[in-house]
Amino acid sequence: MSNDARFERQTIHRTYPSPRAHRIMIDKSTRLKIALQKSGRLTENSLDLLVRCGLKYTRGKDQLMCYGENMPLDVLFVRDDDIPDLVQQDVCDLGIVGLNVIEEKRLAFEARGVKPLFEQVMTLDYGRCRLSIAVPEGVEYRNVQSLRGKRIATTYPNILSRYLRENDVQAEIVTLSGAVEIAPRLGRADFICDLVSTGSTLAANHLWEAETILESQAAIIRTPVPVSPEKQEWIRRLTLRIDGVQQVKESKYIMLHAPRAKLAEIRQLLPGSEAPTIMPLEGSTDKVAVHAVCRENVFWETLESLKAAGASAILVLPVEKMLA
Ligand code: PRP
Ligand code: ZN
Repeated sequence: MSNDARFERQTIHRTYPSPRAHRIMIDKSTRLKIALQKSGRLTENSLDLLVRCGLKYTRGKDQLMCYGENMPLDVLFVRDDDIPDLVQQDVCDLGIVGLNVIEEKRLAFEARGVKPLFEQVMTLDYGRCRLSIAVPEGVEYRNVQSLRGKRIATTYPNILSRYLRENDVQAEIVTLSGAVEIAPRLGRADFICDLVSTGSTLAANHLWEAETILESQAAIIRTPVPVSPEKQEWIRRLTLRIDGVQQVKESKYIMLHAPRAKLAEIRQLLPGSEAPTIMPLEGSTDKVAVHAVCRENVFWETLESLKAAGASAILVLPVEKMLA
């Protein structure tokens, strides 16, 4: 390429950046990066949550990133165990990961004398599981003391070690990076300490759950490093939208006609609703229309009680979006 041509190219690029070049140029200061689990229990729910928050994205060719088209937000797909480190190192501004991973990393950083540099923003209503001690079928186990002097395989050495310390039990922790459930069969450990969600992994490996040592669910973490005002504003908007999405799931909009005389009783029956709207009904003096957002699921039983209390024309509608 001649120097002229090269110069022309650069100039064109500078003036009309391609979408991708544009992204790279403005990346760090204005676009939020959020890390999600690449493939696992949290992946689908997490991406779905962002979509419900309004994100439209295109997936990168390598499948490792999604680029937000309508929000300055890009998604990075990584191993869940790497998410706290990526936020800690300020590679990502946000991350969605299980409390189990957050706690393990927090303890690991602490043990190394490193101050954890990520903050928990909020918990999310999915990804529930527990970290448990599991015992192979046929192996004797009575209580925590049965772990004394035994080998326990885990990918959560720090949480397990704290648990053993708290229970005053000395045992050998065998730290593995995966496939913990087969460790007893391979003769590498007597017990395991692993995540249990549905319990099917344990069942398939002839193990039973003896002790729960940590309850977990998905959560959002963020870098404590101050971000640009634009990014801070998007973090604020995103967390508000997530709040809205989480509230909306159970919420219903209920409309009904009620005799004025029965209003107090009917309001009592509306589950989790604050200040319903009461409106006059054209051509009727003794009846009003009641509209309310119920923050809990509305069951058939509730509708039957409302009807018994004198309500009529009862309609229950799903709530699509909510902003407090
Ligand atoms: C956990 C755990 C088990 C499985 C348990 O893995 O290590 O393999 O889930 O789930 P179940 O009770 O429904 O069978 P996780 O999804 O965290 O993947 P990772 O450990 O590879 O990150
Ligand atoms: Zn993992």
